[in-house]
Order: sequence, then C-alpha cells, then structure tokens
Amino acid sequence: MIFANLSYIEKDPIFALKSEFERDSNPNKIDLGIGVITDNARKTYSFKSIQNIIIAKNDNYLPIEGDPVFKKNFEDFFLKFAEKENITSVQTVGGTHANFLAGKLFQKMGIKKIYFPNPTWSNHTGIFEEAGLEVATLDYYDFESKKLNKNFLKSIENIEDNSLLSLDACGHNPTGVDLNSSEINELLEIAKKKNLIFFIDAAYVGLVNETIEQDLELVKRIYESGIIFALAFSFSKNMSLYGQRLGVLTLLNIKNDKEKIDSNLEKIIRVTISNTSRYASDLATLVLSDKILLEKWQQELKIIRNNLVEMRQQLVYKLNLHNIISFNEIANQKGLFSLLPQLNTENLKKNHAIYIPKNGRINISSIKTDNLDKIVEALSKNLL
Ligand SMILES: Cc1ncc(COP(=O)(O)O)c(C=O)c1O
Repeated sequence: MIFANLSYIEKDPIFALKSEFERDSNPNKIDLGIGVITDNARKTYSFKSIQNIIIAKNDNYLPIEGDPVFKKNFEDFFLKFAEKENITSVQTVGGTHANFLAGKLFQKMGIKKIYFPNPTWSNHTGIFEEAGLEVATLDYYDFESKKLNKNFLKSIENIEDNSLLSLDACGHNPTGVDLNSSEINELLEIAKKKNLIFFIDAAYVGLVNETIEQDLELVKRIYESGIIFALAFSFSKNMSLYGQRLGVLTLLNIKNDKEKIDSNLEKIIRVTISNTSRYASDLATLVLSDKILLEKWQQELKIIRNNLVEMRQQLVYKLNLHNIISFNEIANQKGLFSLLPQLNTENLKKNHAIYIPKNGRINISSIKTDNLDKIVEALSKNLL
C-alpha cells in the first residue's frame, strides 16, 4: 500500500483541544486554549465598527499580490514611518500564510536557518520547516522569574553572523513578555554588529499596549536602523476576522529590490493559492480609509486592551487570596497570553471542564468576572 509511506502526524495541539472542547456537553465548560477574543457571553467578539458594514458583492479575482487599495491603506496606517520605495507588501490568507510566504522567500534567498525565541507560537516550527528552513531556538523566557531570560540578548551575540532571527512584534505568544525600549536598543546594537536580518510576527497589533504606535515600536525601530526584515501581519484578532483570513507580508528596507522580491512572492502565491480572498480586505479597507470607522475601531481595541489588563490584575488578586503568589508576573505580562506550565491540564479538563493546552498557555480574554472564581479555584487545586 502506497499510503504505508505516510507516517501519522500528531494533530495541531490548539485546534485538537478546540475540537475536544466543542464535543464536551458540559454547559459550564471553559476554553482557555484557542487564541480568540470573546465577549461577555463567550461568543467570538464582534467589532461594532465592522459588523454592520455592507459590501457590494464582487466575485472577481484579486490580483495575485492582493488588493492594491487595501495594501496602500495598510501601509499608510500601520507603516507610516516607512518610505514607500523601501517596502513592499502582498496580501495573505491570514498571518499563517504570511509566515509561510516569508519562510519560502527566505529559502529562495538561500537562507538555511531561522532562530525563534523559546518558547514560541506552536505553529512556527512546522511552518518554517515546511518552507525548507532549519529551525533553531534561543532561550527567551525565564520559567523561574517569568520574565525575559537575562541571557537572551547575550545568546544572540553567539549565533552566526548574518543569521535570521524571529521575534513577535508585541504580546509574545505564548509568554506575554516583550522586549522593553532599552532591550530593543541593545538588540539593534547586536543586530547591526552581526549583520542579522529579522522576521517579525505581528498577530496582536492593537491589543497589547496603550497605542498602536507602541505595539509597533519594535517594527519601527528595526526599520529606522536600516536592517532588512520581513513583517507578517494578521487581522484575525484585531479585526475579529478569524474565519475570513486576512494578513499582509511586508518586506522592509529593501532599497532597489522591490521588483525582484515581488516577482518571487507572486510566483509562490500563484502556485499555492493563486490569489487571495477579497471579502476581508474589502472590510479592512473600509475601516482603514474611513475616519469615523477607524476611530470607532480603535476605541473598541482600547476597551479590549483595558479589559485584558483588568482581568490580568483580577486573576493575580484572586490567586493571591489562595496564597498563590508565584503567578504574580501575569499582571505585568501583556496581550492575550500567559504561560502556566505548572498546571495539571489533564485534570483541569477531566475534573473541571477547563481546557488549557499541555504547555499551560492561557488566553486571558476567556477569563470573565463570572467565571474567574471557578477558574482560580480549579487552578489552585491543580498546581504541579
Ligand atoms: C504569533 C502568531 N503568529 C501568527 C498567527 C496566525 O494568525 P492567523 O490566524 O491570522 O493565521 C497567530 C495566531 O494564533 C499567532 O499567535
């Protein structure tokens, strides 16, 4: 049998857990796994600034590289600090596709290896290996202090010159720990000395710090340093377009190589998906180009952000009431996720219908004032 040549590949841990959650008939089940922002009724959050937009039906193909109007609006709003001649963007099917396209482009550029922080988003290794790169890691998170590993920046000094290094733009998945401004300074010093290039994954812009500018600080600083990098941007969480699949891959500091880069990206897109879907980019274009909608959308982002900060503080407060102080850093971490590897996730699922992936990553947005006590009670009983 020819299928004998196939070996079984473990299911994606996050999506496998989501299916298990959906099959669970317990009405009080809680999903702390999948990275989706929910409202108080635990439904996928719907932006009021976006949900009522009506778009004229258009069934035509988009150009291979995506909708030029959407891309212009994207660059004008998120990358306003960059000169247009020095960057180039293609529209992608969510952030995952932007990651894969970047991987394939790097591979065509002759790059053999990429360094990711350890831990990193569970899909990074698979994507970049599938694109033909070797994946290596640098210790990023200190599991003891629950802060940035003190040796992280030093460890970059020890990798090969001209290496490719990946970082999340903000709200690092899964730790919630980002570089601060002075750590970014140090990073860029090392990067310039070692002639590094970067891959920056931006899936949470708008959901982490007080302003979108702050969420893009790392991106802007790398651009200003003149270092070549790729930016994979996702609209899944910040516009709640999970199932619509919208993202962008931008190459920055490209100088005169735009045509060459574009032609390679277009080739990869053409042979894989031919061209991307248009509904989500039509929606995003309207939001980004309409002053009122743009303002409304940013107000909604602010509410979500403040809510995440508030729930982080409340979680820590309640854990302290149970004499659990070892998770206090959760209040200082940022964005959607924190990592609690000290949990018995199997028991939490079996005995409390609380779903957390094995690595202990929790989605703060799934914690609500009406389930907080139940969660804290269960966590306190299931510490390893
Ligand atoms: C770090 C990171 N990159 C990329 C993505 C991909 O997002 P999308 O759903 O837009 O493909 C995610 C989503 O979970 C993520 O956490």
